[in-house]
Amino acid sequence: MLYIGIDLGTSACKLLLVDSEGAVLNTVTREYPISYPHPGWSEQEPEDWWNAVKLGVPELLRGFDASKVAGIGAGGQMHGLVALDAEGRVLRPAILWNDSRTSGAVRFLNEEIGREFLSEHTANIAFAGFTAPKLLWMRENEPALFARIRSIMLPKDYIVFKLTGKRSSDYSDASGTLLLDVEHRRWDSEMCRICGVDGSCLPELHKSYERVGTLLPGAAAELGLTEGVTVCAGAGDNAAAAVGTGAVGEGRCNISLGTSGTIFISSEKFGVDPNNALHSFAHADGGYHLMGCMLSAAACNAWWQDGILRDGDYAAAQRAIPEKSLGRNRVFFLPYLMGERSPINDTNARGTFTGMTMDTTRGDMTLAVLEGVAFAIRDSFEVARSIGVEIPRSFICGGGSRSALWRRIMANVLGIPLDIPATEQGPGYGAAMLAMVACGEFASVKEAAAALVRVTDTVEPERELAERYDERYSRFSKIYPACKELFAEIV
Ligand code: XUL
Repeated sequence: MLYIGIDLGTSACKLLLVDSEGAVLNTVTREYPISYPHPGWSEQEPEDWWNAVKLGVPELLRGFDASKVAGIGAGGQMHGLVALDAEGRVLRPAILWNDSRTSGAVRFLNEEIGREFLSEHTANIAFAGFTAPKLLWMRENEPALFARIRSIMLPKDYIVFKLTGKRSSDYSDASGTLLLDVEHRRWDSEMCRICGVDGSCLPELHKSYERVGTLLPGAAAELGLTEGVTVCAGAGDNAAAAVGTGAVGEGRCNISLGTSGTIFISSEKFGVDPNNALHSFAHADGGYHLMGCMLSAAACNAWWQDGILRDGDYAAAQRAIPEKSLGRNRVFFLPYLMGERSPINDTNARGTFTGMTMDTTRGDMTLAVLEGVAFAIRDSFEVARSIGVEIPRSFICGGGSRSALWRRIMANVLGIPLDIPATEQGPGYGAAMLAMVACGEFASVKEAAAALVRVTDTVEPERELAERYDERYSRFSKIYPACKELFAEIV
């Protein structure tokens, strides 16, 4: 049998064709635009996502027997608000996870409704990218459109809706709405009331590996598939990526260096960070996880290389960095190009380079970008440690993890070994695994991970370099507090 894994990312949709043994037979990537209509806003057209799937799947299947496809699973960018009217039409462009327009709503939720109330009801506090503050923003700023909302869903749920006609979501992705009672896995009626959302607008909740339905006849015809194909609920992209690297069950960690950067710690038991700096979400394996999310990770390097230097040869830029610079760079970079989520929760935070002198080279600045992202991941890693979570090692995945230099910097900044899975395909691979479980290939997500995921390489920390990075990290940690007030003045 064959399975299709969909990774509905921020810059592109990546499709994977996987067989029952877990071999990746084909991949197709289709990009779509992202618009920033005002500073700090970030939007996409759900129709662009669907077109990417509609055009990408027939391309993915070219040369393969489409009648063998048994299941489809999707992992998608989290938190995005997709609002539909009574006819299932999209009311406005989706407001994405890295959009920071909602700072007023976040203040209202965290300060007036109160962090304690939010944490008790949802296991989390409000962050600008979460879905609930976006609903409050829409109610305030687009009341006529808000009144027409009959259905709210997350990005990958829109794809499942177009495939099956069913309004569904899964627990991992729904956790990031701030409307879910994460511990008890049900929509929270108090939070819905606060956000002015009628319960009938919310999708039906499923386990990630549960079958939601089969393809609508029209969708099957467009994709070149048969109507009997199972579509599972899927997962938020970080949970799907964690499934794909084998970060399932108790105490496993996955670091993802994608557009965003995340540190994802799986757990069989429900738990909350007492300071709510880390998110407490459901996992796609049936358990839970804690997660720190920085908004711009590989996005910082893309901004630097493509946007500023206008030199897309990332590998050459990294090759030019001399070995002796590692752990000795006097240039620091704060990676807050879209504000920051974890752990500082500050939409006003901004990127900075600090410490340049006349002899600073382009290589020093490129290195500072890679290091700045690693230090910012360490901020969340330290929060996890401070609440007693042990992270002896981690998997690493995402576009940025293809750079050997960046992986080495990460391992030394964190001081732990990083395992690289053989099929490093990010969320799409995990999504295909969820579809396999939904179709009965495996009895559980854990079983699928044990059978399909292999580690091919491990990056070990080097004692001396890790020590040098410890010392660099202590300097990095002083920069944001020193700039915080200034950032608020210059927005
Ligand atoms: C997680 C988050 C990001 C997006 C990126 O909370 O906001 O990782 O899911 O796709």
